[in-house]
Amino acid sequence: MTIRVVRVTINSTAFWPIQVVSHGQYGLIAVVTGGNKGIGFEICKLLASSSDDVLVVLTARDEQKGLQALHKLKTSGLKTYMTKQVMLQTYETAKDCIQTNYYGTKHVTEALLPFLSLSSSPRIVNISSGVGKLENVKDKRSSQMLSDVNRLTEEVVEEVVTGFLCDVKDDSLEEKGWNAPLSAYIVSKAVINAYTRILANKYLSFRINAINPGFTKIDMTHHKGTYTVEEGARGPVWLALLPDEGPSGRFFFQMEETTF
Ligand SMILES: NC(=O)c1ccc[n+]([C@@H]2O[C@H](COP(=O)([O-])OP(=O)(O)OC[C@H]3O[C@@H](n4cnc5c(N)ncnc54)[C@H](OP(=O)(O)O)[C@@H]3O)[C@@H](O)[C@H]2O)c1
Repeated sequence: MTIRVVRVTINSTAFWPIQVVSHGQYGLIAVVTGGNKGIGFEICKLLASSSDDVLVVLTARDEQKGLQALHKLKTSGLKTYMTKQVMLQTYETAKDCIQTNYYGTKHVTEALLPFLSLSSSPRIVNISSGVGKLENVKDKRSSQMLSDVNRLTEEVVEEVVTGFLCDVKDDSLEEKGWNAPLSAYIVSKAVINAYTRILANKYLSFRINAINPGFTKIDMTHHKGTYTVEEGARGPVWLALLPDEGPSGRFFFQMEETTF
């Protein structure tokens, strides 16, 4: 099992994977963001045990948490703890959600694209959610914009995100038809799905997919959920290890293709 802990600082020149990616002895290098806990942690575990030829780069925004996760992997004893958090959607929380789920993913992807282009088997797996399905985007204009795969561009996605945040700021979510309480999470995942399709159309030799891991028992869900973290991680790992002729630009619920 080979795992390195890396602190990723998005929007900064300190992007540590660079020094690890130059390592030549591994057949496959997998960078897992949010790898210190939950599904990301389990993905690191499964990938690392899939073959000796895999270098897993476990990234965490907090270096200490990343090191603790590494320690857990080494001792194979997972500790669990409970956090209780009630989130009310405000403009700030909505912006944070879009920033983390969409722009965070986009910036990490952009930073890694030069390395992926050097790979003989480039794969991108975006962890989405069932809530990001187009049927849950209740603002008709945005839903239409995100549905039209032939016209999808990053500018279109930007327009949807900006329009949504304006509606949050103006307190006009209900009036515009958005599904108010969860709308930021829905939009963030719907645009990740759209971004996945845009990338897949642009990088035809890559295999780029989005996946809903299913309702998974993690700290945040107070360990309630339909699936264990092992079950939630299985699909993303399968997509990360897809053969060259595998699907691209698709959306999966675990290991089954589903509609956007
Ligand atoms: N669990 C489910 O039922 C479920 C269902 C559908 C989709 N998903 C998706 O699966 C993915 C993984 O979630 P999870 O269930 O494994 O949740 P989790 O256990 O809460 O893990 C989330 C990970 O993301 C990191 N993170 C949180 N905010 C961040 C930020 N602003 N910048 C950078 N990293 C940040 C966390 O780091 P810290 O430890 O530092 O906070 C942690 O490593 C998410 O995209 C989630 O939307 C989960």
